[in-house]
Amino acid sequence: MQIRDALERPLHDLRISLLDRCNFRCPYCMPESEFHDAYQFLTKSERLTHDEILKIARVATSLGVSKLRLTGGEPLLDKKLPSLVNGLAQLDGVEDLALTTNAMLLAPVAQTLADAGLQRVTISLDSLDEDVFRQMSGGRGDLATVLEAIDAAEVAGLSPIKINVVVERGVNDHTILDLLDHFRGTGHIVRLIEYMDVGNRNGWRMDQVVPSRELLERVEARWPLRRVDRNYPGEVARRYEYEDGQGEIGFISSVTEPFCGSCSRARLSSDGMLYTCLFANQGTDLREPLRNGADEDELADILSRIWLQRADRYSELRRPDVAEHHALSKVEMYRIGG
Ligand code: GTP
Ligand code: 5AD
Ligand code: SF4
Ligand code: SF4
Repeated sequence: MQIRDALERPLHDLRISLLDRCNFRCPYCMPESEFHDAYQFLTKSERLTHDEILKIARVATSLGVSKLRLTGGEPLLDKKLPSLVNGLAQLDGVEDLALTTNAMLLAPVAQTLADAGLQRVTISLDSLDEDVFRQMSGGRGDLATVLEAIDAAEVAGLSPIKINVVVERGVNDHTILDLLDHFRGTGHIVRLIEYMDVGNRNGWRMDQVVPSRELLERVEARWPLRRVDRNYPGEVARRYEYEDGQGEIGFISSVTEPFCGSCSRARLSSDGMLYTCLFANQGTDLREPLRNGADEDELADILSRIWLQRADRYSELRRPDVAEHHALSKVEMYRIGG
């Protein structure tokens, strides 16, 4: 069955946040000043169990979801991740099973995850400049460990490996060409992401965004590029290839060129809230019906009702110049994982 929302968009993609904790403190996501030792993260009993996640994923696939992405916080902090991956990989209808991670903990488990059925990884890595990387990971990241993990993921066949880079003006934009140079010819796909006004805690300002158009010009001045067609409808990245054959890069321009028109993603937080937009200010609690014994038909009913009513298109409506617009109370990125 394939359901469509109020704007005719199908439900294709379920992004599952496994936990709200992270071993990084990226200032644009979990600034240390707020996410300190005393911060109350979700407790184990507040988080969905793996069986509960599997149940929701199974229901989602029955409604047309074929892409699953595991995210966080940092999903590799969940030590039982391989068995969950194994369960998800076996669901009927799953064509793509991916993981978003900062890769600090990836190298030792890359092969185990691949054996369990994980198909690919997307690695968040904002700079190859030691100082900039440390700053952007809140002093927690170790560059050599992340680069080793990328190699381990390649050996394990978790490819194509994508490298997600959030670009912030004056923070890491001067290091982007070096990063691209490093990954040219490796087969890994770097994607340059416009810094977005997700959540309410990062103090986002429009002047911190480097529009993709500007970045594209900077990249093209060094390496000529050619546009490539989308891999699938609703792909968020605009794809380019180096004309000299050294691989692909992508631009994700949700601030300057929103892509809500084809957005087919639902997001599940680790405490079981379902959000139909990255910028949602409210979601629907699935944990309560799950724990009150709802069967899969009842859950399918709830899920399809949510999707049929969905009309979100925050990025298209957002007015970066109107302060109230991003002052709305929104779900934080670390709870729904990007
Ligand atoms: P592929 O499946 O590999 O094409 O990647 P993906 O589309 O699942 O993208 P990924 O999860 O790597 O997302 C990369 C970044 O794009 C995220 O971290 C967000 O910054 C942004 N992004 C992804 N989905 C959305 C979305 O639905 N809305 C907005 N505004 N931004 C998004
Ligand atoms: N804008 C754009 N991307 C973000 N991410 C986290 N916060 C933001 C933001 N404010 C991305 C990170 C990571 C993914 C989980 O979300 O790069 O790859
Ligand atoms: Fe952790 Fe990713 Fe947020 Fe950084 S962006 S704090 S790695 S969840
Ligand atoms: Fe989808 Fe919301 Fe992002 Fe638009 S802003 S693409 S509706 S998640």
